[in-house]
Amino acid sequence: MVCAHPLAAAVGKLVLAAGGNAVDAAVAVHFALAVVYPNAGNIGGGGFALVRTGPHQVYCLDFRETAPQAAHENMFLNREGKPIPELSTGTVLAAGVPGSVAGMAELHQRFGCLPWPLLLKPAIQLARRGFPLTDRQAKELNENAPLFQERNPRCCYLSHPKGGAWQAGDTLRQPELARALECIAERGAPCFYSGWIADSLEAFMRSRGGLITKADLAQYRPRWRKPLSLEVGPYRVWAPPLPSAGGLSIFQMIRLANLLGLRSDSLHSPEFLRIYCKLSQLAFEDRYRYAGDPDYVHVLEESILDSAYLLRRYKEVRVGRFLPAEFIKCQETSEHTTHFSVVDGEGWAVSLTTTINDSYGSRILVCGAGFLLNNEMDDFAVAPGAANLFGLPGSPRNRIGPRRRMVSSMSPIIVEKEGQPVLVLGTPGGTTIVSTLVLALYHTLIQGRPLKEFQKVPRFHYQGSPHVLWVEAGGFKPELLRILNQENIPVRERSPIGRLDGLEYRDGYWYGVPDPRGDDAAEGF
Ligand code: GLY
Repeated sequence: MVCAHPLAAAVGKLVLAAGGNAVDAAVAVHFALAVVYPNAGNIGGGGFALVRTGPHQVYCLDFRETAPQAAHENMFLNREGKPIPELSTGTVLAAGVPGSVAGMAELHQRFGCLPWPLLLKPAIQLARRGFPLTDRQAKELNENAPLFQERNPRCCYLSHPKGGAWQAGDTLRQPELARALECIAERGAPCFYSGWIADSLEAFMRSRGGLITKADLAQYRPRWRKPLSLEVGPYRVWAPPLPSAGGLSIFQMIRLANLLGLRSDSLHSPEFLRIYCKLSQLAFEDRYRYAGDPDYVHVLEESILDSAYLLRRYKEVRVGRFLPAEFIKCQETSEHTTHFSVVDGEGWAVSLTTTINDSYGSRILVCGAGFLLNNEMDDFAVAPGAANLFGLPGSPRNRIGPRRRMVSSMSPIIVEKEGQPVLVLGTPGGTTIVSTLVLALYHTLIQGRPLKEFQKVPRFHYQGSPHVLWVEAGGFKPELLRILNQENIPVRERSPIGRLDGLEYRDGYWYGVPDPRGDDAAEGF
């Protein structure tokens, strides 16, 4: 198993060693990450899981958050119809109804074999006894301290208890979260959706002007959805469908790369980058035009993956002319979320991506229940054309409405060859999820190279709007950047892109491939 934190990876190994299957391990790791990786691990967010139980038997669980019943299209706008800064990211209004606890319960009920309370035990212990912060975690908590304090005047265990700065090795204890997890362990998801946690959340929302009620929580349901699948040579690739647009975008790009016969030896050649930008702009334009919550918006996924359609669209696309470009600010996209991958001895696999959107979500803790609220409402179109945290323009199909799910980029992936799993992978990174995974699949399935090598390749991201090619700082030859700039593809350097955590089957063995860009770790036996 491979995930964003070594302690959570150790939990996954423990569960597998105790006779649990991949789903048991995934549930335990999800709860462990809620404790040891508060940037993105959560009980207050949502996500997507793919579960493989046999040849071509792949299931997709959508446990994405939903808008509360009282949510409406204008909730983040001022009188002039313009978005009010930070309302959709840094306040209680930013929170969607959390899906993670219901999602884990659903996965466990359908596929798990070990007792539910046992799977929460490690997370409870880590929350109650505490765990040592890594250097990176201490720095990130310190960077966020002003926001934690501002947004949590009454309770904030994520700030240093003595008002100082966290150091690597300091112990982070989360007794309120331990209590919430204990209740979820004993009473299951109902504790979160109708028990005292629901009471606390509703009371907290009322006290801060939020919208989520106990009725919203009681009505939340995860959804099983038919996963998308795509043949790439001898491989079959699986990904979630809408409301994640990630799978569709990745499949459009990989299919077109194949149709065009794109066989570049290097991901950094000017020719590859030029074509990549075009493919990516096509995919993000189509996301803008079509993607929405499939329970409310009809999208014929097959037709936008059709070969003739893709080739026609490829001829139309003009790199740099994405509309409505005038709304888009050019900023480095925020990127958080977390992904983990598990396989067990029976060939069952779980690929799971989960998020509270921004790092530490809204940075608002639910007092008494000790968990962070997501700010997933920002993934809706807050106003027509207005950019979200990821710089993506808001599309009318992704508008806010009661109980709707906001469009996501999360794309847990499973790849089979001749019916056997060979790759289980995914990454955080908002819209950059699409780039990281297209490049990883191109590298492994089309170039035939090991996943481990891919981790060393400096990454890039293009989404058409804004018209900027983001590249990992220091990883690209100045000559290449000069050529692209001359061709009117503005290049900007930025911080590392994604944290790809994958498992790869090669020469009779599974290899854990954690991303060296984070504290990520693989465990197995
Ligand atoms: N919150 C980021 C995403 O779902 O893509």
